[in-house]
Amino acid sequence: MPAEGDPGLFESIYSMRALRRFRPDPIPEEVLFQLFDAAIRAPSGQNAQDWRFIVITDPAVKEKLQGWAEVGWRRYQPDFAEHPEKIDDLPRTQRLTLRSVEHLVAHLHEAPAVIAVLGLKGRHSTPGGSTFPAVQNLMLSARGLGLGCSVFNLPMRGGDELLELLDIPENNQLYCLLPIGYPTDRHGPVRRKPVKAVVYRERFGKTWPFAEEQPDEGWQDRWLG
Ligand SMILES: Cc1cc2nc3c(=O)[nH]c(=O)nc-3n(C[C@H](O)[C@H](O)[C@H](O)COP(=O)(O)O)c2cc1C
Repeated sequence: MPAEGDPGLFESIYSMRALRRFRPDPIPEEVLFQLFDAAIRAPSGQNAQDWRFIVITDPAVKEKLQGWAEVGWRRYQPDFAEHPEKIDDLPRTQRLTLRSVEHLVAHLHEAPAVIAVLGLKGRHSTPGGSTFPAVQNLMLSARGLGLGCSVFNLPMRGGDELLELLDIPENNQLYCLLPIGYPTDRHGPVRRKPVKAVVYRERFGKTWPFAEEQPDEGWQDRWLG
């Protein structure tokens, strides 16, 4: 039975943005359970289901993650880390995205939870292929339940120290981190390359006439009104 206020699958897909600003409210246990109960419905190679998730709410651990995120941010965007005012000169979309990343770098310790996503090392011939379907299920479920999140891997700069801090065994790989909570920013239409730019017919590079005739923004109006 759909939950009250559930936007439905297609509205969720078309409006699930990476959200990086959260209210401090904790996520109720039953909401968390629903997220994971939906996440684990995902497919995995040989139905291995070797995904593992750690829900991190310990303030001390989140502080450590934040410290590594700051290191990651300085490496990834050294110029903007040193001169944040330069972000204001960027085109709107880039500016808003970078401002939200910058915000999360500085406020990660306040995120209600950070989910670490793991899988067995060397278990699959396409690493990640057996993990990210569950991540996408989780993120869409979060969208459906009024939560927001984003993959946010900057704290993975912590390397082995991070793995030790979380007691992650040798045979597991950390795939991604997902800060999650009730967002202060809104979900909304996502900007993506049009279908015609990324889908070919029969051979790489061979255009798809039907897609060529569709609007560049796709069919989002059908779902978002
Ligand atoms: C594998 C992966 C790694 C990502 N790493 C980061 C990251 O380290 N920091 C971050 O702020 N966002 C990260 N993202 C989020 C993307 O930047 C975001 O999904 C993309 O820009 C689309 O944003 P939108 O859905 O709001 O349009 C990552 C996403 C994926 C799928």
